Amino acid sequence: MGRTTVFLTVLAAVLFLGSVAAYPKQSARQKRSVDLNEVYSMIGSYRLPKEIHPTSYRLELQPFIKEGKFKGRVKIHIVPTDKTDRITLNVHPDLQISHSDVRVTQLDSSPTKEARPSGMLTVNVARTERHTKRPWYIIHLEQILDVQDLYEVDITFSGNITTNATQGFFRNQYKDTSGQEHFFVATYLRPNHAQRMFPCFDEPAYKATFNLSVTRPRNYTARSNTPVEKTEDVSGEPDIVWDHFAQTPQISSHQLALVISDFESISPTTKVNEMNGKSLDIRIWSRKEYLETLQAVPDKVVKIINYLQDFFNSSILVPKLDIMAIPMYSASQASDNWGLMFLKESELSSTGVWSTAYQIAYQWIGQFATPFWWSDSLVNEALNSYLASMTTLEIYPDELEGKWPTTALYSLYYEFGKRFPFSRINGIRQDATAAKTALVFRMFNYTLGNDLMQRSLRRFIHNQWREKSRTFFADDIYTCLNDVANESQKLIPDLTLNNIAASWINRDRLPLVTVTRDYGSGNITFSQEVYLRDRPQEPSEKSKYTWYIPIVIVSQAQLDFSKTVPTVWMMKDADRSLTIKDVAANDSFVIVNPEEIGMFPVNYDSRNWGMLAKFLQGPEREKIPVLTRAKLLHDAWNIAYAGDLCFEIALNMTLFLKEERSHVVWEPVFPMIDHIGRRIENSCVHLKFEAFIRSLLKPVYARLGEIPRPGEPLWKTQLRGVTKNFLCKAGYEPCIKEAREQYKKWMANEEPDKGNPVAHEFICPVFKWGTDDEWDFGLKRVINFPVNSPERNKSERTYLLKTLAGCPKDASKIKKLLAETILGKNSDFTDADIHLIFSMLTGSATGYTTLFNFLSENWDEIKLKFQDKKHLWDGIVNSATLSFNTQDGYDMVSELYVSRQGEVETTDAIIEKALKNIKEETQWSEENLPVIERWLTANLSKEDLDAIAAASTATTTMAAPHAG
Ligand SMILES: *[C@@H]1O[C@H](CO)[C@@H](O)[C@H](O)[C@H]1NC(C)=O
Ligand SMILES: *[C@@H]1O[C@H](CO)[C@@H](O)[C@H](O)[C@H]1NC(C)=O
Ligand SMILES: *[C@@H]1O[C@H](CO)[C@@H](O)[C@H](O)[C@H]1NC(C)=O
Ligand SMILES: *[C@@H]1O[C@H](CO)[C@@H](O)[C@H](O)[C@H]1NC(C)=O
Repeated sequence: MGRTTVFLTVLAAVLFLGSVAAYPKQSARQKRSVDLNEVYSMIGSYRLPKEIHPTSYRLELQPFIKEGKFKGRVKIHIVPTDKTDRITLNVHPDLQISHSDVRVTQLDSSPTKEARPSGMLTVNVARTERHTKRPWYIIHLEQILDVQDLYEVDITFSGNITTNATQGFFRNQYKDTSGQEHFFVATYLRPNHAQRMFPCFDEPAYKATFNLSVTRPRNYTARSNTPVEKTEDVSGEPDIVWDHFAQTPQISSHQLALVISDFESISPTTKVNEMNGKSLDIRIWSRKEYLETLQAVPDKVVKIINYLQDFFNSSILVPKLDIMAIPMYSASQASDNWGLMFLKESELSSTGVWSTAYQIAYQWIGQFATPFWWSDSLVNEALNSYLASMTTLEIYPDELEGKWPTTALYSLYYEFGKRFPFSRINGIRQDATAAKTALVFRMFNYTLGNDLMQRSLRRFIHNQWREKSRTFFADDIYTCLNDVANESQKLIPDLTLNNIAASWINRDRLPLVTVTRDYGSGNITFSQEVYLRDRPQEPSEKSKYTWYIPIVIVSQAQLDFSKTVPTVWMMKDADRSLTIKDVAANDSFVIVNPEEIGMFPVNYDSRNWGMLAKFLQGPEREKIPVLTRAKLLHDAWNIAYAGDLCFEIALNMTLFLKEERSHVVWEPVFPMIDHIGRRIENSCVHLKFEAFIRSLLKPVYARLGEIPRPGEPLWKTQLRGVTKNFLCKAGYEPCIKEAREQYKKWMANEEPDKGNPVAHEFICPVFKWGTDDEWDFGLKRVINFPVNSPERNKSERTYLLKTLAGCPKDASKIKKLLAETILGKNSDFTDADIHLIFSMLTGSATGYTTLFNFLSENWDEIKLKFQDKKHLWDGIVNSATLSFNTQDGYDMVSELYVSRQGEVETTDAIIEKALKNIKEETQWSEENLPVIERWLTANLSKEDLDAIAAASTATTTMAAPHAG
């Protein structure tokens, strides 16, 4: 979802450390046109002095497309709001202005002053100056300007059209199928690139009307925010004409847009409904040969506009909307100017509603009404993301495949539950905040009602109509919601939506709500604390914040999920817990925060969990909607993982999965298997856990069918992929067989280094479950990987090396790899390769245990070998010690520590840190593994248990040495 997608993709990658390539990602949605990272770097940038306001621009532009140059002249009407003898404008250093081209005149005096006979007076320019550090052009005048008078600044300028970037006034070209090149020019003026094209007040809050005139080749078309009003010949230039565009409403400089091209257009077959007595003319543009691909777009756009226009009860004010697919438009830069939107070709041709709706929503919030300053655009983005989801749910609900809001929300739960959120991936905090803010709007929709949400946003737009500048601050949106909520008496006194929103948005944490029912007294208590998922958890961290939390309750007696008004709000800065009269009888359960109305997991007392688990296994389970079923499961596992719920209860919550058909409920199962699996891998429980996973997933896989059907929904393909992947990892025989058969083809190849015929998904199972020969063959392929071969991409080698290190189950393969790469004499492995191997080994118990043994046994030799490569030495010590999570592991590492203490100072520190970590993890294992083991033993089939008993006697000597 716009930036959210980027954020999710990054998160998905991090959650799975690349081990689960097939895990469903969001379909590739495009990034927002306001690149917030770019924008945030601007927040601290210099603002123009405030004493002058522009009211209108008359801009003439003459591009010389082939030559890559342009000439222009701008007449800006300004009004001084304070006494000054200077006019400061934004002018990019590359824009050429000579002093003699600058003129300032005083126009008609304002009515409050005495009329001047001449009407116009020249104001002498003393000198002009470019600021040395800021992109400012300063006109020093010989007199002080009269406050509230109208002046005109007239500047002639010239510049180069940008040809190497999609920025400012730029040129690009495309080739048609006959190979002929076609040039076009267009603008990308966000966030402050208008100053590359013409002198202006280049800040969003300075709004003015624009009268744009441009010259263009006669056989080209020019489009801007408004329609062309008049076209004129240019004397002496038969192939060139002037286009004069209608005056724009008041807009910021960056909202101006222009394209001059030979693109062609199509129109919808249906019309946009009239609104405020006006109709809106829609056209979709692209290069001629691409137009075919866009056939379905115009009618889709009309549908979306009709929906949003009704929702806002307002048109977009300008009389036409052109949407253009721009060839070669670079990724982060879709641009939705008022009346003229530019998108990438692939972006516009996508069949989805969401991304188009998201772009179009900006015509109202973002273009008609604009954020005051760039910091206010985050809430704009979040609101539009919410509106796009709303529109999609209305027009084409299948598109979201039930993944809204879970995909975004679960990622937020993981990230904000970390000890140090965002410590591993920088630069996504803004994305996460935007995602979170969109979910705050969703929370308001549920707790206050659809209708109130709509009335508030209508009022917001309506207020903007009345206000000439149509700019808003982030807070204005919440204020509007708040006013309407107050009038409808939907809020308890003293609670403002601004404050509620702030408590959720302004920090990188989310709450956990614990529900405790007192079955004796008939009371129910809610308490809030900071949701922490990873260890260690400091008590002070847990009580660091509080939130305003809506408590929506559904009881078993009345499974009505459409009632979403909170029974009570928990208050910030009040008692952490709140007790009320229970709403349900003792023998029936309650569900708090159904449908993920608020962004928080919920824990219950064990009796309530028990009733939930039982009900979910019964015939009426589908009375609980999928999103809530998914939530109950997801919360139970994650809270158990965090140490706040007994695993037995969490595992009981999986029993209903036998009957579960919805992919929405299944999707959170995979990350949980992955997380718990990692912790269990090193223990004697892992065989049972694998058997459990197989028994859980085999029926799902069977139901989905091995072979994709044409035209099946995307979720099905994704679910099949991820199920298979997890089954393979858990040792599912048919999968291993298939992988080895595929791999054989490569081994039989006479020139195996020419290319790899085996799909990625098969490689890890072969290295994990296959023979030494198969693994050796893989290692040879890395060693013999052709250098500088045009056919083979280096990433193939990296992938092989990663899987060679990360996948094996038995120590001998890893030992061999380490001996070869570290102690061996060959130079086939770079330092980066070795680092990669270390980091892959930390991902599996066999990996890091073998690495540890290897390090202990060859300590002196390795130390000598790495004496000039401290990063490798630190790397091996860190990777070999960090990941243990049992008492045995702790003992091994501390033995090493004691025997080598004082040899290298930094090494001591690394191992000390590791020991601290292992202690934490060990505590987790000691608390939870016996519980998990007991549960698995009670719930696995007898055949599975017998097979495990037989297998473990056979392999105890092979697996991690301390496991025997
Ligand atoms: C514009 O392009 C010309 C070459 O066509 C170059 O000489 C000149 O320096 C450029 N001007 C700027 C300001 O980059
Ligand atoms: C484009 O060229 C200009 C100089 O002509 C240079 O300053 C700028 O960094 C270039 N931009 C890109 C994206 O290459
Ligand atoms: C437009 O006219 C110019 C000559 O003025 C010609 O070179 C060009 O090929 C024409 N382009 C199209 C798309 O007709
Ligand atoms: C808004 O809330 C209503 C329930 O009040 C719900 O039916 C609807 O789906 C929600 N809309 C969105 C976009 O979440």
